[in-house]
Amino acid sequence: MRMTDIIEKKRDRLPLNKNEIKFFVSGVTDGSIPDYQISALLMAILLNGMNREETLMLTNEMAKSGDMLDLSALPHTADKHSTGGVGDKTTLIAAPAAAAMGCTVAKMSGRGLGFTGGTVDKLESITGYNTAVTTEVFMRTARREGICLVGQSGNFAPADKRLYAIRDVTATVNSIPLIASSIMSKKLAAGAETIVLDVKFGSGAFMKTAADAVRLAEEMVSIGRGVGRKTAAVITDMDSPLGRAVGNALEVKEAVSVLKGRGPDDLKELSVLLAAHMYKLSFGASEKESLEKANRVISDGSAFTKLKNAAAAMGGDAGLLTGEREFPAAGGSKEIYAAESGYITSLDSETVGKASGMTGAGRETLKDEIDYSAGILLDKKYGDRVEKGERLATLYGSPERLEDAAAALSSAYSYGSEKPPEKPLVYKIIS
Ligand code: URA
Repeated sequence: MRMTDIIEKKRDRLPLNKNEIKFFVSGVTDGSIPDYQISALLMAILLNGMNREETLMLTNEMAKSGDMLDLSALPHTADKHSTGGVGDKTTLIAAPAAAAMGCTVAKMSGRGLGFTGGTVDKLESITGYNTAVTTEVFMRTARREGICLVGQSGNFAPADKRLYAIRDVTATVNSIPLIASSIMSKKLAAGAETIVLDVKFGSGAFMKTAADAVRLAEEMVSIGRGVGRKTAAVITDMDSPLGRAVGNALEVKEAVSVLKGRGPDDLKELSVLLAAHMYKLSFGASEKESLEKANRVISDGSAFTKLKNAAAAMGGDAGLLTGEREFPAAGGSKEIYAAESGYITSLDSETVGKASGMTGAGRETLKDEIDYSAGILLDKKYGDRVEKGERLATLYGSPERLEDAAAALSSAYSYGSEKPPEKPLVYKIIS
């Protein structure tokens, strides 16, 4: 088989067969296909698309290109995945809630990059938390606690690692079959029988429109079901940050406040919905029962106990979660104020994410060190009424970083004299 023939076929809008996709993925993995031929095929896929069957075959081959975790010895394994956002700490709430309902949540998460946050960085803001454990420890903890939250270790979907790096520099990221196969190959390799996807759209997301998010979600659900995993997706708005905290320790504290029955409504609504769908698919329960149960494990404190145990099992200081001890304080803080009176007609997520990164809460390159205490607490969000001079938000971090970050955050706010329309957080559920 020759790579040039495969490129030619996709260039001419013909579907690729299983052997061709296998040849391509194995050549990506073992390095025998050079970057320029991979780039050419990726661009042909971006321009001419792939049908469902091709996307499923591509995902399967990418999943099989490295380690595949076998979680079959654990009961009711359930995973969730967010396509990335700003202030998205739902894993810290939905995962322990699902575990408290009887799911086993053995979950490998990622780090933040660019303007989006990542669960691993949030977990590492809990002093002592070790996110890099062996598969044995991971499995043992998941069995004992019903929950284990760590970073990705081992060699999962190496074909995706190489393809993603090439896509990043060849303007071929934004293709629904390529994004769907990239995300789902890693989810399939991670082994859970139930997968709940949170596909985000808006300024702080990969998909800018709800219609594109629905297309991506449908593709991913179809892949999951195509390989026998129970899969559902919620499509949610990421035009505004989720909750009020952006930045690692600040987000952990906000997640804890939801698990203790307080916290922002939008964050609670989405976290409960995700946990409920993890349970619903795992146990075949009704939507109503699942939502009731998810709310109950939060109000009776059992979801919080799961998070505490999950942190302690990984060496994390659970006293930071119970309030016995305080998270390390930030080096400084700075408030920003409303430039005019009126309504907040937009709070641009991407800009908020960038401003949070500037406080030290994110990295520009994977090697940068994170300041876990840095970030933003938002007082005012989309739709809120403000008076000129009223506080909009507080930034935390090293004082020398806060001037620029504050200017960036101020630019995320737009004002108007009319109250803007309410926007539902959950646009659609594919279940
Ligand atoms: N996240 C991934 O893992 N892959 C993509 O292609 C896009 C987002």
